[in-house]
Amino acid sequence: MHVVLVGPPGAGKGTQAQLIAARLHIPHVSTGDIFRGNVSEMTELGRQAATFMNAGELVPDAVTIAMVRDRLAKPDAHAGFILDGFPRTLVQAEQLQTTLAELDENLDVVLQMKTDDDELVRRLSGRRVCQGCGRIWHLDYDPTSVANSCDECGYGLSQRDDDRPETIRRRLQVYREQTEPLVDFYTELKLLAVIDATGTVDEVTLRSVQALMEARSA
Ligand code: AP5
Repeated sequence: MHVVLVGPPGAGKGTQAQLIAARLHIPHVSTGDIFRGNVSEMTELGRQAATFMNAGELVPDAVTIAMVRDRLAKPDAHAGFILDGFPRTLVQAEQLQTTLAELDENLDVVLQMKTDDDELVRRLSGRRVCQGCGRIWHLDYDPTSVANSCDECGYGLSQRDDDRPETIRRRLQVYREQTEPLVDFYTELKLLAVIDATGTVDEVTLRSVQALMEARSA
């Protein structure tokens, strides 16, 4: 399946994408993760992206689109993918349609994950990410059994630089201004499925998988 996840920062896109990708045996393509990987490896792309990310702004479309086009052309993405964090602007959404047409592929469904702002802030402020395997944890909602040590690989956890309160506020604003218009775009294409992203991780996974199955049988 070719799936896009859309939702504000902290909606649980990365958490659900990891679970769904494992279940469907398709790659999880996260533009945020690719940018962060480049930042930690100190590449030129990482240097360019870091300024925007730390300010809570979007990395320019041209850079992001070229990066995703390269990733989707790799053989493991031909049978399907779950795109997390892309597209985020109308220009990116239109370009994704073009790229998929060139690859003779189509989107099956766009899952829009919805939850309220207070919950988003709680989720982002308590988020911790494993520095080894990338597993996403939460201090209260999904804690590790030993503090600051990933249950799955034993590496330490870190907090993302853009999870500071002032940057969180800006990221939410940028989402409303630049990404929410995608809801109308994908509604018109009859690809949108709205998911209630409140409740436990398992409850949200169940709703997401149900929506994917409905899209598959449509
Ligand atoms: P990106 O990494 O994509 O960040 P984001 O979209 O802001 O989303 P987050 O990763 O913050 O949240 P999420 O929805 O994945 O939540 P998560 O599952 O982690 O992008 C970062 C930056 O990169 C952007 O600001 C931009 O600068 C740049 N960028 C990326 N893509 C770009 C693009 N296309 N164009 C331009 N720039 C781009 O969950 C959050 C926390 O909540 C976790 O701790 C988790 O354990 C917990 N949690 C999850 N689900 C639940 C639940 N149901 N109940 C309780 N807790 C939960």
